[in-house]
Amino acid sequence: MYLNIINWESKIKSNIIHMKKTFLAFICVLTFSVSAQTGISKITIQADKGTNIINKEIYGQFAEHLGTCIYGGIWVGENSPIPNTKGYRNDVLNALKELHIPVLRWPGGCFADEYHWMDGIGPREKRPKMVNNNWGGVVEDNSFGTNEFFNLCEMLGCEPYLSGNVGSGTVEELAKWVEYITSAGDSPMARIRRQNGRENPWKLKYIGVGNESWGCGGSMTPEYYSDLYRRYSTYCREYDGNKLFKIASGASDYDYKWTETLMKNVGNRMQGVSLHYYTCKGWNGSKGSATKFDTSEYLWTMGKCLEIEDVVKKHIAIMDKYDPQQKTGLMVDEWGTWWDQEPGSHSALYQQNSMRDAFVAALTLNIFNKYTERVKMANIAQVVNVLQAMILTDGPKMVLTPSYYVFNMYKVHMGATNLPIDIQCDSLVSGDKKFASVSASASKDSKGTIHITLANIDPDKEQKIEIDMANVKITKVSGTILTAKTIQSYNTFDNPNEVAPAAFNGAKTTKKGLAITVPAKAILSIEIQ
Ligand code: AHR
Repeated sequence: MYLNIINWESKIKSNIIHMKKTFLAFICVLTFSVSAQTGISKITIQADKGTNIINKEIYGQFAEHLGTCIYGGIWVGENSPIPNTKGYRNDVLNALKELHIPVLRWPGGCFADEYHWMDGIGPREKRPKMVNNNWGGVVEDNSFGTNEFFNLCEMLGCEPYLSGNVGSGTVEELAKWVEYITSAGDSPMARIRRQNGRENPWKLKYIGVGNESWGCGGSMTPEYYSDLYRRYSTYCREYDGNKLFKIASGASDYDYKWTETLMKNVGNRMQGVSLHYYTCKGWNGSKGSATKFDTSEYLWTMGKCLEIEDVVKKHIAIMDKYDPQQKTGLMVDEWGTWWDQEPGSHSALYQQNSMRDAFVAALTLNIFNKYTERVKMANIAQVVNVLQAMILTDGPKMVLTPSYYVFNMYKVHMGATNLPIDIQCDSLVSGDKKFASVSASASKDSKGTIHITLANIDPDKEQKIEIDMANVKITKVSGTILTAKTIQSYNTFDNPNEVAPAAFNGAKTTKKGLAITVPAKAILSIEIQ
């Protein structure tokens, strides 16, 4: 009996262990793998019902004095052995021109609130140096300053977006910066600009009044910042016909109180309020490797990335309450992935960029297109060598990242009319998040060409997609695909084409529209005439 009890007890124990294991396995399935899949999706596009133009500024970029974004990445100086045009490296310049960048934000980021623009003008050898306290305490020699930035924007054909110093700068300093850039007359700052070799003013539309003023930009409360915004922005004058679009330093992620306070206290004194959202595990401890991750981490990333839709919707709902006519724009002027710095790299926030990053770009841009009525601008962080970069460099070497190719494939949406779209597809699961395995957006450009961008984020399964576009007479379909051997694939200087776009001929016309078989882990751009 005693033995029996022991056996019975040990059986219960082993049963419990088994049950625990089964339960854990069940949780793992729920948490880490894909749920039951049909592999069949249906997309309906209302090609004649589009009303909103996709703001081209959604495809904006961001360049901060951080790591090797500016120095080494964009600017090498006229005397560099790296081929350059007036100090800007040619390879990077040419690659960026291809993206048709609509707007470039500069000089930060956190750097902006310690930047004193007068140190960055005049003969370079006379410019004072400073310590970049935010990013590794490196010495900043100010050789890339206002003239260099505005000339770069002219070369790229993009709007400059200036981030003003509110945290440690003065009202006078910001006021004079705007005067230096935009005054055409015989004003004191215009005279200095002329002495520095620039006769005509530049055009400046977008001006940010501070950055992350709740944190690195001054650790302020929203109430205090609102008052400062009102004061600083008052003296950002509109010289000689130059029209400013003033942007208040906005919330991080889920800080709805910040947006609410600004909408209430600043109101229509701002034309835009910013929002920062990073696809990041958190601010303490490891953020995870950019290249060494498993499927569960990949799915977590997809879930976190897609959560931006809910965040954007909640900020928009607050804005709608105070601004039902949607006069103030939501400017997502920092977004993207944030991983651990690349092992062995001495450049701050330098990270590799895999197929997983390409998906974050693709999904996020599809979301921004959808909310274009309110989302007036977005700037991925950052353009070269920092966080989710378009381009990586190392000395004279340069490589384009998977994220670069997404921006290149998606640029067709800029300025086109967003088309209403409905997607019925399989779901993927990560933790308590369930999300669609297919993401898409569609637009019609001024020539009547329809563009569909589409991502199948399922790492293993292809999707057969029927696209219903009743009333569209299709004469020609072509496409581009971005996929790779694995979701971890990335490009290196030695192997730059591991993830590269290719022609896609898998879209077939049907009675209702199109039938497409999208391979697993693939991003498509389809053009329909
Ligand atoms: O993009 C890197 C940093 O992230 C920016 O400087 C700052 O604004 C944000 O916290």
